[in-house]
Amino acid sequence: MVTTKYLTIKEASEYLKISSSKIYRLINQGLINSVKTPKGQRRFNEEDLIKFLKKTQPIKQKSKLYEAQNNDLYAEEIQAVYGLKNINNVSDELFFHSEQIWIYNADILSIQNIEENSVDLIVTSPPYNVDINYNSHNDTMTYSDYLSFTRKWLQKCFKFIKEDGRFCLNIPLDKNKGGQQSMCADITTIAKEIGFKYHSTIIWNEQNISRRTAWGSWLSATAPYVIAPVEVIVVFYKNVWKKTSGSRESNITKQEFMEWTNGVWNFSGESKKRIGHPAPYPVELPRRCIKLFSFVGDTILDPFLGSGSTLLACLETGRKGIGIEIDIKYCELAKKRLLNEGQMKQLKLFITS
Ligand SMILES: C[S@@+](CC[C@H](N)C(=O)[O-])C[C@H]1O[C@@H](n2cnc3c(N)ncnc32)[C@H](O)[C@@H]1O
Repeated sequence: MVTTKYLTIKEASEYLKISSSKIYRLINQGLINSVKTPKGQRRFNEEDLIKFLKKTQPIKQKSKLYEAQNNDLYAEEIQAVYGLKNINNVSDELFFHSEQIWIYNADILSIQNIEENSVDLIVTSPPYNVDINYNSHNDTMTYSDYLSFTRKWLQKCFKFIKEDGRFCLNIPLDKNKGGQQSMCADITTIAKEIGFKYHSTIIWNEQNISRRTAWGSWLSATAPYVIAPVEVIVVFYKNVWKKTSGSRESNITKQEFMEWTNGVWNFSGESKKRIGHPAPYPVELPRRCIKLFSFVGDTILDPFLGSGSTLLACLETGRKGIGIEIDIKYCELAKKRLLNEGQMKQLKLFITS
């Protein structure tokens, strides 16, 4: 006689290497079979688990999205396990995709998947070349190498934005570490050489006085250092400043508009420790740029996604968001933040509305 082996939820979770809560979700979606004991506890037939694994295992490997494209049978399982909604036209670079959000685990210099003239607004903060320990990027280039890297990624971004597309670039005003450099002026010059048109510069006063440590020659004119404890957001556009594409629906309040069109912004920086990334900006920064410079439903791109702050701001403001990040761990972090913080914000909106 053949006896069927039944597993508890804990055993099934170990067997499938997914959490119990995910298993419950899969049950609700009808993707895993289970039976209930007289006391109402779930039990899983081992054969059903094997069947589920057979269907989903190929897509857990690197080529999961390619498999998905070529095998409709996997579509539902992929949606359930990875939260993917639309699995057409995807490539291996696509790390995460929901209705409104796309995360690419890719290098901005070589990414192929972003359509030219498709982006309404870019909001980003690139690496500053100040010796930050990113997992997959060398942040200690010579200044001239750094500027040629900057030229290359700016050229890519120029192609992605629409004719009336805009670009909010968060960079330091100047660089003190490893030699004084007029960073904002140099990058602005490169952007203009590429074809971007200059609109304005917003000063972000991070209110972070702890940076005030290097005085140079103390109380002497020999060689004092002057350091502005601020960063900037340089605003560019591609061809025409007046925005005609998109829904034309703005969701900025009168108070926000009046406050933010004053080009000195005062809000605190973000904690690296809290976020788990070495250089995050606060969601407030992309939130302001998005609400001020784009319409509801527009497509926003962040080519240096990091921990996903720009995409969180997209969720919050009703925009579509595309993020590109070279490091897979930061992609994971961004996805986690979107699923946790992002959903909580939407829930809050739902409860208060
Ligand atoms: C200053 S951080 C961005 C932080 C982000 N604004 C946030 O709030 O978390 C720059 C990010 O760019 C990523 N990066 C560096 N070089 C890259 C490249 N060539 N393509 C895509 N991402 C890159 C780094 O891994 C890092 O996460």
